Amino acid sequence: MLRNGLIGFGYWGSSLARNFQTAPASVLASICDSDPERIAQAAALYPGSTTTPSANDLIGDPDLAAIAIATPPATHFPLAMAALKAGKHVWIEKPMACSSSEAASLVEEARARNLVLMVDHTFVYSPAVRKIRELIQGGELGSLYYYDSVRTNLGRFQNDAGVLWDLAYHDLAILDYLLDQQPAQVSAHGAAHLGDRHEVSYLTLEYPSGFHAHVHVSWLTPVKVRRVMLAGSKRMLAWNDLESARKLEIYDHSVSAAASPGKEEGQRRIGYRAGELHIPWLEVSEPLQNAVRHFIDCVQTGARPLTDGESGLRVTKILEQAQETAGAGQ
Ligand SMILES: NC(=O)c1ccc[n+]([C@@H]2O[C@H](COP(=O)([O-])OP(=O)(O)OC[C@H]3O[C@@H](n4cnc5c(N)ncnc54)[C@H](O)[C@@H]3O)[C@@H](O)[C@H]2O)c1
Repeated sequence: MLRNGLIGFGYWGSSLARNFQTAPASVLASICDSDPERIAQAAALYPGSTTTPSANDLIGDPDLAAIAIATPPATHFPLAMAALKAGKHVWIEKPMACSSSEAASLVEEARARNLVLMVDHTFVYSPAVRKIRELIQGGELGSLYYYDSVRTNLGRFQNDAGVLWDLAYHDLAILDYLLDQQPAQVSAHGAAHLGDRHEVSYLTLEYPSGFHAHVHVSWLTPVKVRRVMLAGSKRMLAWNDLESARKLEIYDHSVSAAASPGKEEGQRRIGYRAGELHIPWLEVSEPLQNAVRHFIDCVQTGARPLTDGESGLRVTKILEQAQETAGAGQ
């Protein structure tokens, strides 16, 4: 049995606790939270786990093989670095760190000690994103034109990260998994209405192939939206993560543009092809559960996680570039 510890038993940490406790070959041996109320709840829900307000108790516990970190972003780097230095395999929540230099140090530390460092890019473990990658790899969509994402809601506000680092992070992690290329140009702009961090942001990525990604994220929207459009030269798809039966819709639609014979140069003949709508069957599974099981498997077999520290580092670098162009208030 893999003995795991968890630091941070808040909103997301409580879901992690359930998944680490119920995964085969894993036991949630120890839970830490600096908030006495949260630690009391953890003790009541997990009577078989030891509880403590001090992260050092977990990090120094020789019986723990791995530690999951689900605390606010500014604490990720010091906690993860201390855990790696203590010889623990580490699961780290997104955003992996607050700068690429911190993220790179974590990658290096894990590499030097031959430890697993996995970043929770949860959507990569969702059946919908797996299916989208399969469609891209199989050439079903043709050459890719654009990815357009809207990820909005009322909150949840984060204290130590703006909305780009909180929500656009998900799209960057998804794109990192879907594409075999990195953006050549990154730009963002946003607005801070209630504090000094952006609550609304627009991010544009331009890739060497001509592919574009547009990401709109907001904590200041009355309606929760989790919708992605992905268009290719052969087919287009719509992914609505809030849907259950029609999460992914594949439209056999395309547009062609050809020069018009006999017409002035520059005049094109546009052809529209609207075919069938296909709704693929998707396995029903919880992405976080798939991710936790993958982490446990990597620790036990020494395999490299799909969302390893390197992928977290690539995403962090893009966020830094976006932050530079968006200016103060990020
Ligand atoms: N992967 C996802 O889809 C996803 C979803 C939600 C949140 N998250 C990430 O999870 C992390 C936590 O977010 P949340 O919404 O659960 O926040 P939260 O505020 O609900 O929980 C954080 C918990 O950490 C505790 N804590 C803070 N500093 C600590 C320390 N030094 N030692 C021990 N405990 C400490 C707090 O008391 C709190 O209970 C963030 O990085 C967030 O981005 C990821």
